[in-house]
Amino acid sequence: MKTEIKIKPFWYSDIWLWPKLITIITTLDKEGVVNAGPYSHIMQYDVMTKNPRMIVGFRQDSHTFVNICDTGEFVVNCPSASHLDDMMETAKFYPEGVNELEFTNFTSIPSKKVKPPSLKECPQIAECTVDEIIKLEKSTGIVIGTIEAIVVDEKLVEMGREERIRTMDLPIGMGDEARQIYYHTTGGDLTQHNLGQPKNAMQGADAVTSMDWDKKAMTMLMNVPPPLRKMVIENTEEFTQENNANVVTAELFTELAKSVGMDPEVMERFRSGG
Ligand SMILES: Cc1cc2nc3c(=O)[nH]c(=O)nc-3n(C[C@H](O)[C@H](O)[C@H](O)COP(=O)(O)O)c2cc1C
Repeated sequence: MKTEIKIKPFWYSDIWLWPKLITIITTLDKEGVVNAGPYSHIMQYDVMTKNPRMIVGFRQDSHTFVNICDTGEFVVNCPSASHLDDMMETAKFYPEGVNELEFTNFTSIPSKKVKPPSLKECPQIAECTVDEIIKLEKSTGIVIGTIEAIVVDEKLVEMGREERIRTMDLPIGMGDEARQIYYHTTGGDLTQHNLGQPKNAMQGADAVTSMDWDKKAMTMLMNVPPPLRKMVIENTEEFTQENNANVVTAELFTELAKSVGMDPEVMERFRSGG
């Protein structure tokens, strides 16, 4: 049996269970004093490399939002679970002009591209400038930030995803009770679920090859998102015939992609599936 419940303020936290990313956003006020506060209303906004952005939601009178409106810069720091107490310290309602970091074990370090500092203890950091600010009436202030730099602990770069997840040990916010008791969890048991291909993947995507494709080219094709496969097959086979070849090869596939100006990084994803 299901029941409809009344939608009350803070529904997203009280009633809906909404696991969230924990971040600490650092900013500078107009006088250059550092401010830090935890923010979880955050999402990736533009996933392409040209204009990578994040979207963050704030109480409009929070010091962080005011500072971002005044200075146009902020840093998103993601702490490990071992720093949850320090994160909570930065959530307290300190008066304006107080640097909350002085009450924590976090160390400020210079950021690479923006003026607000980064937090040394945080394994992943995004330095942002303001792209757009939307002030929703009697509600949230939305900041769309352009990511100027993504900075991570050096040792993470070469790790595979599983090792990186375990090493970073990012906490997951599980909401609060009456804005006083905040619940968090961590990755716990990590499970893996393989996406795989649907049965008859090519037909499922309404895409059928009419020529031979070598193994590498076929791998690249299977890394193309299914809705695009039909168009890619048609164009690549046409290009192969124009080149008087009867087998589609990875080289021909790549050459065609280049000639139509495909972003080399997107192309690399097709090649590696990464
Ligand atoms: C885990 C956690 C996540 C939070 N996320 C948000 C958020 O996304 N938006 C928001 O307005 N406040 C959020 N808060 C509340 C602010 O952090 C809190 O109001 C803080 O005092 C604001 O600090 P500031 O005024 O220095 O910016 C969150 C608090 C915690 C503990």
